[in-house]
Amino acid sequence: MSKFITLERFINEEENKFPNATGNFSAILHDLSLAAKLVWREVSKAGLVNILGNTEKINTSGDTIKKLDEFADETIYKAMDHGGHLCVMASEENEDILLIPDGYKKGKYVLLYDPLDGSSNIDANITIGSIFCIYKRISESGDGNLNDCLQKGFKQVAAGYVVYGTSTMFVYTTGNGVHGFTLDPSVGEFLLSHENIQVPKKGKIYSINEGNSNDWSNEMKNYINYLKEENKADSRPYSLRYIGSLVGDFHRTLLYGGIFCYPADKKNKNGKLRLMYEGNPMSMIIENAGGKCSNGKMSILEIQPTSLHERTPLFLGSKEDIEILEKFLQKEN
Ligand code: AHG
Ligand code: MN
Ligand code: MN
Repeated sequence: MSKFITLERFINEEENKFPNATGNFSAILHDLSLAAKLVWREVSKAGLVNILGNTEKINTSGDTIKKLDEFADETIYKAMDHGGHLCVMASEENEDILLIPDGYKKGKYVLLYDPLDGSSNIDANITIGSIFCIYKRISESGDGNLNDCLQKGFKQVAAGYVVYGTSTMFVYTTGNGVHGFTLDPSVGEFLLSHENIQVPKKGKIYSINEGNSNDWSNEMKNYINYLKEENKADSRPYSLRYIGSLVGDFHRTLLYGGIFCYPADKKNKNGKLRLMYEGNPMSMIIENAGGKCSNGKMSILEIQPTSLHERTPLFLGSKEDIEILEKFLQKEN
């Protein structure tokens, strides 16, 4: 039975642990939880209102923007733009940084987000999500800038996601554990349901798009074949689970353990997933749950970003699984 701790109360109790906290940071998380409920409201009835399907637009990554992508993007921006705690934002669906409108106070934090992750699954009613991360600004005051956004992942002060699945959950970390809150639609509150999530140190599930296997490096092929070999002593062969929504595949990996992989391949030298609003936030979360992140060679959180929408090979999961993967890939050039 849930202890009926709402997300709002949990955020406030977390803030009280830091005597000189100003409350700005908590206010951002409160605003994000409102944005999550507003997106959930549309996602949960997407099939009933004219919000399925594509717009005629293509985003910076070359993906067709779905109507729900656009709705989620605008909803999150509008929920966050006037709180006075942010100086700049950046979103998957917008090529450039998003300034705070004139007339609103510019605060000391930066928000990057993937408004709707797993868009290709929307029309098929498969789990999708929203991903966010927060940094402290580098610039002194006024409008934030691109430099405020292009910070290494280990500088994040918070990261989280909303997973719109069989139930809708808000999962986040501020560096003090990873905590999950399940939305009770009857009261419109996120209630604490998964306190201090710890990813198993080793799993038996691997998650990857096998359709790309002909384009993987030999080292990557060898690793996946290793997972498929019979060896009961270390839970092999692993099972394959892949839904094509990072948030859904990540959430299962966080709770069950194992490894999520989106490697580079011959066609995509840096893989497909975006560093700033997919790789970095999920990496902060997995590391705070006792797991590990990697681009195959190093921690995702150590990568110095050079552009807002840059891609990275992305491996996330149980510590021991990532360590074995890195051994296989260290010879990869
Ligand atoms: P988005 O919908 O935000 O563009 O993200 C889609 C991503 C990610 O959710 C998922 O892991 C990956 O695309 C799936 O890619 P493939 O279809 O190539 O497997
Ligand atoms: Mn995404
Ligand atoms: Mn997206």
